[in-house]
Amino acid sequence: MLKTQMTASQLYEKLKNIKLGASVCQYSLKKCEELVPIINEINELKEEKNAVILAHSYISPEIIYGVSDFVGDSYKLSKDALTTKASTIVFVAVRFMGETAKILNPEKEVLIPAVLDGCSLADSINAENVKDLRRQYPDHTFICYINTSAQVKAECDITVTSANVYKVAKDIPNDKIYFLPDKFMGQNLKNYMDRQGIKKDIKFYSGTCYVHEDYGMEDILKVKLEYPDAKIVSHPECNSAIVDNSDFVGSTEQMLGYMKETNSRQFLMLTECGLSARLQSEFPEKQLVGSCTMCKFMKSNTLEDILRCLKNPLPKDRVILDEPTRLRALKTIEAMFRYA
Ligand code: 13P
Ligand code: SF4
Repeated sequence: MLKTQMTASQLYEKLKNIKLGASVCQYSLKKCEELVPIINEINELKEEKNAVILAHSYISPEIIYGVSDFVGDSYKLSKDALTTKASTIVFVAVRFMGETAKILNPEKEVLIPAVLDGCSLADSINAENVKDLRRQYPDHTFICYINTSAQVKAECDITVTSANVYKVAKDIPNDKIYFLPDKFMGQNLKNYMDRQGIKKDIKFYSGTCYVHEDYGMEDILKVKLEYPDAKIVSHPECNSAIVDNSDFVGSTEQMLGYMKETNSRQFLMLTECGLSARLQSEFPEKQLVGSCTMCKFMKSNTLEDILRCLKNPLPKDRVILDEPTRLRALKTIEAMFRYA
């Protein structure tokens, strides 16, 4: 039995400022009363089973504020996965993030509760595609975004996240780079290098994030008409017109940091709605303008599935990697930690 159980009012305090339009992301005290029993059951099981819950910022707020031990972007969560002493990690996100935790923690049980655990970027490329590309570009250093499967990472030289892609690509001692799988992030990286006067041959693959590719310049122009002082903050998975017209570009955790430190009141956050919900909860004095988009993969995580994973995991919940693939993928993540 947990020493302190979460009460409905404590949960409501965290969730009451979240107003994202969709009724799934709005909370009343009554809704919190319904959520609290399952939240307390999960928290008890976590203690009993020596488990921790890692949740990406895109996950539903009742999971973030009810049961998670670590919250953040892919880079922060991969570092958190390295430091935890727990024997089980429940990774509330999508498969590639759970695989990253397993690559770093082969001795731990890693569970993924998501019913839809894919990602349009990770699913856009496979290991065979990378092998073909390597034959075509034998002199290039292959950089993969963390949004890739363990098998794809195993075929590359270094992994990056949205928090460190520019820095790593700049510091790599090769002027020939192949970046995969995001075509927008690849183009943004190329533009960044050009602006910095760094001469590197940057090739990139054709994948996209189906959430971020939906944003267009009209989203910025509409907001600027009504709120001329609003800061435009975007994720590097957005297209180059958006990125070039933003006040700040970075990973979801860096976007949060920018909002925290910037003395403006209004912000347009061009990324998934989960981050906006987190910002509304943590910075109620700031105003989010415009709209956000939901990722069906991230949003397929529920409290019920987390409970099922902790009680009685199904074979599909468990991350299992063959050792040669894990070791080759690990090298690319260790290389990221060295460069980032
Ligand atoms: P971050 O690492 O910036 O959180 O991005 C992950 C992701 O999937 C963005 O769509
Ligand atoms: Fe993948 Fe896009 Fe969803 Fe992120 S938001 S997990 S990149 S589909």
